[in-house]
Amino acid sequence: MNRHIRRGWAVSDRAGPISTMLRPREDAMAAAERVAALLGLRLGERIRSGASGSLILKATRSDGTTVAVKVDHPARMCLAEHAALAAVGFTPPLLKQGVRADVAVTPWIEGARSERGAGLGTTEQVAALLGRLRLAIPPSDALGFDEVVWGLLRSTVGGDHRLGKTSPIDVEVMRSDSEQLLRAPHQSILLHGDLTTGNLVFSVDRAWAIDPRPHRGPLEWDAATWCLWAVPADALPQHVDLLSRIAALDRRLVASALRFQAAAFLTYRAEVGLDLPPDVLAMASYDLSADHEGLSR
Ligand SMILES: Nc1ncnc2c1ncn2[C@@H]1O[C@H](COP(=O)(O)OP(=O)(O)OP(=O)(O)O)[C@@H](O)[C@H]1O
Ligand SMILES: [Mg+2]
Repeated sequence: MNRHIRRGWAVSDRAGPISTMLRPREDAMAAAERVAALLGLRLGERIRSGASGSLILKATRSDGTTVAVKVDHPARMCLAEHAALAAVGFTPPLLKQGVRADVAVTPWIEGARSERGAGLGTTEQVAALLGRLRLAIPPSDALGFDEVVWGLLRSTVGGDHRLGKTSPIDVEVMRSDSEQLLRAPHQSILLHGDLTTGNLVFSVDRAWAIDPRPHRGPLEWDAATWCLWAVPADALPQHVDLLSRIAALDRRLVASALRFQAAAFLTYRAEVGLDLPPDVLAMASYDLSADHEGLSR
């Protein structure tokens, strides 16, 4: 099976949405128990068990330190990419790498999560974190950026454009943004691929990313995901400017990636019958040239 299957709204795999490809796991707890026995972990609080069968547990090692045990489908674990991201301190290290292809054990990071409405200080930490990605060495078979962009484009504006006449998505804008993205320089950086608020932990002195869905691409892509999930629409210019200055990003490319991801996200929400959040609607038509003076690099 293609190990680069994606999940959630970014269901861009060629073969179709993940929900039609992977059956929920019923044996996740048993897998966690086997790994715990092998590594001498005491399993604790169940943090989350996803609809697809993923499972996150807190556990304690014999030395008293706390770890996260995550069980998911091997196709979604991307352990080689995860290791490459961990090597540059972007994600917590994988402890006992390769014990099983469907289990990751990482140190538990004590810290705060962020919700939409992040302040500039939080975005500053994310920008510093993004800088680490330039140093990561992608595995040779890491998913390419073109596959991600084409996959999302197809699922959003493809044959059966699902939003109908009232669609807030401007298909032409999406097409031209996809062209900008695919012309971007530095498309081979190993990205996190799902840099949402739920996948970042802010410890005392720095941010950590967890739960990567890695693929190659330009840094602007991950920066845009952060903006989409965390930043209030009316504060976008300041956050985009800060990210761009600290991580040396192309602001226009951040804007293209943001519009593009917002459009795909809205289409997904409409498809599953969810409301279309006003902030995300605003992001789908974000116009960089409307940013106020003094914010340009
Ligand atoms: N190593 C860790 N340190 C601290 N918190 C963690 C760690 N791993 C997971 N968590 C917590 O568990 C939550 C879920 O983890 P993760 O994102 O890996 O699971 P998931 O099932 O893929 O969730 P989702 O589908 O929401 O992305 C995180 O939002 C975070 O709060
Ligand atoms: Mg997550």
